[in-house]
Amino acid sequence: MIAQNQAWQGRAEVMELLIKSAFSGPINALEIGVWFGIGSTNIWLNQLKPGSTLCLVDPWRPYASKEDSTEDIGYDYKHMDDLSTDAFLSTYLNVKRFQNERADRGLRINTIRAEAKDFLPFLKDNAFDFIYIDGDHKYENVKNDILHAKRLINKKFGVICGDDLDKVPTDELVELSKSLKIEISYEGMVSYFILVFYWRFRKSLRRLIW
Ligand SMILES: C[S@@+](CC[C@H](N)C(=O)[O-])C[C@H]1O[C@@H](n2cnc3c(N)ncnc32)[C@H](O)[C@@H]1O
Repeated sequence: MIAQNQAWQGRAEVMELLIKSAFSGPINALEIGVWFGIGSTNIWLNQLKPGSTLCLVDPWRPYASKEDSTEDIGYDYKHMDDLSTDAFLSTYLNVKRFQNERADRGLRINTIRAEAKDFLPFLKDNAFDFIYIDGDHKYENVKNDILHAKRLINKKFGVICGDDLDKVPTDELVELSKSLKIEISYEGMVSYFILVFYWRFRKSLRRLIW
């Protein structure tokens, strides 16, 4: 059974607290990986301050690789692929309902149907105050999203955060994690994502919030 809302309880509370407390005024926010538009997207819609802009990017097309469909990786990509059109329609309706019912919030919502790697290159440096990465969880695409996020984030103050990664850490990264004193979780892979973040950003950002 594939959940339509993938902002799991526990995680959702942290996400809500983060967006609420990090920004006191209107911001430009970017979400990569929207799915049904009722998980993380709803959190941003409900918490962004009036006058904010939210840009939603998702191809809403099948994206499982051959290995994803044939190997047991603990995640049902095949079923997700079958639901991509439903997910797109759900997002469209959710955004439309929000705009109808909460016009008073004055949010501008731009929904882009594209792969992040094809669309992000068109966006200007420093364009966003908040970036949430939850698109294709394969290493090359996550890396691409993180590198773009680094370019796109407001360097005075910005928050980049995201979901996990479908890859078992390599020996090299395990060694790196030990030297950085970061624990790698083989189950959730979340810590591995943090590690890749840290590795890519090093000291170029003043702080990282997860
Ligand atoms: C885990 S789901 C997102 C869950 C959502 N954020 C939530 O909280 O419910 C991953 C989404 O990433 C999208 N996706 C897949 N490949 C992508 C890509 N190359 N660029 C952007 N999004 C992608 C999928 O279509 C899917 O909707």
